[in-house]
Amino acid sequence: MESQVSLNKNGQINIVLHEREKLFFENNETVNSNDPFKRIDQEFSYFIGMNRLKETIKEIYANIQINQKREQAGLKTQKQVLHMLFKGNPGTGKTTVARKLAKAFYEMNVLSKGHFIEAERADLVGEYIGHTAQKTKALIDKAMGGLLFVDEAYSLARGGEKDFGKEAIDTLVKHMEDNQNQFILILAGYPNEMEQFLTLNPGLASRFPIVLDFEDYTVDQLLQIARQMAIEREYQLTKEAEWKLRDHLMKQKQQYFYHNFSNARFIRNIIEKSIRKHAVRLIRKNSYTTEELMLITKHDLTLE
Ligand SMILES: Nc1ncnc2c1ncn2[C@@H]1O[C@H](COP(=O)(O)OP(=O)(O)OP(=O)(O)O)[C@@H](O)[C@H]1O
Ligand SMILES: [Mg+2]
Repeated sequence: MESQVSLNKNGQINIVLHEREKLFFENNETVNSNDPFKRIDQEFSYFIGMNRLKETIKEIYANIQINQKREQAGLKTQKQVLHMLFKGNPGTGKTTVARKLAKAFYEMNVLSKGHFIEAERADLVGEYIGHTAQKTKALIDKAMGGLLFVDEAYSLARGGEKDFGKEAIDTLVKHMEDNQNQFILILAGYPNEMEQFLTLNPGLASRFPIVLDFEDYTVDQLLQIARQMAIEREYQLTKEAEWKLRDHLMKQKQQYFYHNFSNARFIRNIIEKSIRKHAVRLIRKNSYTTEELMLITKHDLTLE
């Protein structure tokens, strides 16, 4: 059954959802609310910052719904091309977002299966003439109905004209055009390398209408991520622990200004190390309250 979109007399949008989309909007309250984007906000609220990403998903979703409405009205419709480029430093959330998008696009009925396949150079490039096209094609076949995420995509251009990486790129391009809407291809990598990759392959950029820049996080955003990661694991940082972390992050950001800083992954590592230290501190005591089991103090906070 097709989803249906109509305007009521107050100018509000009514959406009758396809079964699968109900999954995406499983909360009825949201379906009836006047804000069709509320569920997207909820689904992506885990990601601190990333406003451009959230806006892009809303645009894609609105486009699907309005296209269906246009179809019902006998107007021309256009399929969206959703292949994307992700540019961002280490730990800025590229892989995590791509994984999440596969699921969200399945629920929005954009992808028929919504599985996520992560690949890198070695998965695409073969060892002899003809092997690369075959390997790449096999991977694309596996990705049909889902999302293919190629990390460190620029490594495909590493060896220049004679390298088999070039064949992998050509094969990807060919199949993304032949199978326009049956799978989504995301090429990801660090910003400078991705820029260079695109200049080496003119014509490639235009095939990826969606380009997302994953910015480095500010200290405040990193602290918010730390808080969230702790809560997720049913821990909490004391105020003093948070101050100590803030201080450390400010120093790190300065120190690493010209180097790589692994952003949210850096935070995840600190939280995980601190949880182990907290466990060691508690096990030495013989009794502990629920509060003590949850609180990570400045002494537990492990910064190196
Ligand atoms: N905006 C965010 N909010 C909350 N957690 C985040 C955010 N961005 C990243 N993370 C977390 O940080 C960790 C690292 O993210 P991820 O592996 O997706 O980064 P990446 O950009 O793919 O890094 P790399 O380029 O090194 O592969 C994950 O645990 C992820 O959940
Ligand atoms: Mg990654």
